[in-house]
Amino acid sequence: MRWETLLYESGDRVGTITINRPDALNALNLTVFAELSELLSEIATDPEVRVIVLKGAGEKSFVAGADIKEMVDMDRQDAEARSWSGMRLYDQMRRMPQPLVASIQGYALGGGMLIAMACDIRIASTAASFGYPEIKLGIFPGTGGTVLIDRLIGPAAARAICLLGDRFPAERAYQLGLVNRLVEPERLKAETDNVASTLAGYSPVAMRELKNVLNASLELDFASAREIEIDAYGRCFDSEDRVEGTSAFVEKRTPDFKGR
Ligand code: CAA
Repeated sequence: MRWETLLYESGDRVGTITINRPDALNALNLTVFAELSELLSEIATDPEVRVIVLKGAGEKSFVAGADIKEMVDMDRQDAEARSWSGMRLYDQMRRMPQPLVASIQGYALGGGMLIAMACDIRIASTAASFGYPEIKLGIFPGTGGTVLIDRLIGPAAARAICLLGDRFPAERAYQLGLVNRLVEPERLKAETDNVASTLAGYSPVAMRELKNVLNASLELDFASAREIEIDAYGRCFDSEDRVEGTSAFVEKRTPDFKGR
């Protein structure tokens, strides 16, 4: 098998990545970081893949965080280097031209909640649970997770999650807007397929441009992000997909987007 820590399959315009360390509840070790980054680089240029689904192997866990066993003997330099590789991976995920859908069936803790937040859409089973337990280890979600959660759900809720370190149910994550769709465990796969197939039907050009703008809005000031928005919007109007999308509406048919 090509990957030590991942499974990958693709079909029907959807690429599905499974983090495959069920014995460690899919904890993120350095091999997962490296393999995910390499696989994502390949998928980024694969025109057959319009949506990426990310999940964890087994029933019990999406991802139970960074691999704590790797951390025991780490010093400050190791920690900073590790943090940079995590941050680069999460940036890479956000900057993928294709949307990423996290399909969350169990624990999404620490780096597990963070990797889910680096996806564009999060679908969770009601049996899933979330949290940043790092404070209990004498650290905090220092791979970009503190800053990101603050931006995604606002400072009051983010601060309580980081400081208290408690585990909370998917229902609470849904109320906070961390989870976009909440379904019974037996519906998770169907709902993930449903969302993936909806996204796969949209224009890859508009999707890529839209993600660029949303990333800019997360990272830049208001005026700079709006300049990026207007450029990206203009580029959509250069695309065949925009002609197809607007014509299909007028002609009362389903658009067939080619990604050009
Ligand atoms: N790293 C490494 N191994 C982990 C792990 C992790 N984050 N989480 C679970 N495991 C391993 C356990 O060590 C155990 O392996 P062994 O059988 O070899 O001991 C196996 O997975 C099963 O785990 P448990 O026996 O603990 O399962 P449980 O059902 O009793 O508990 C749990 C599940 C509540 C998720 C518990 O495993 C747990 O608290 N895990 C740690 C969660 C955590 O603290 N995550 C944050 C990590 S730090 C981080 O993420 C930093 C960052 O991003 C910056």
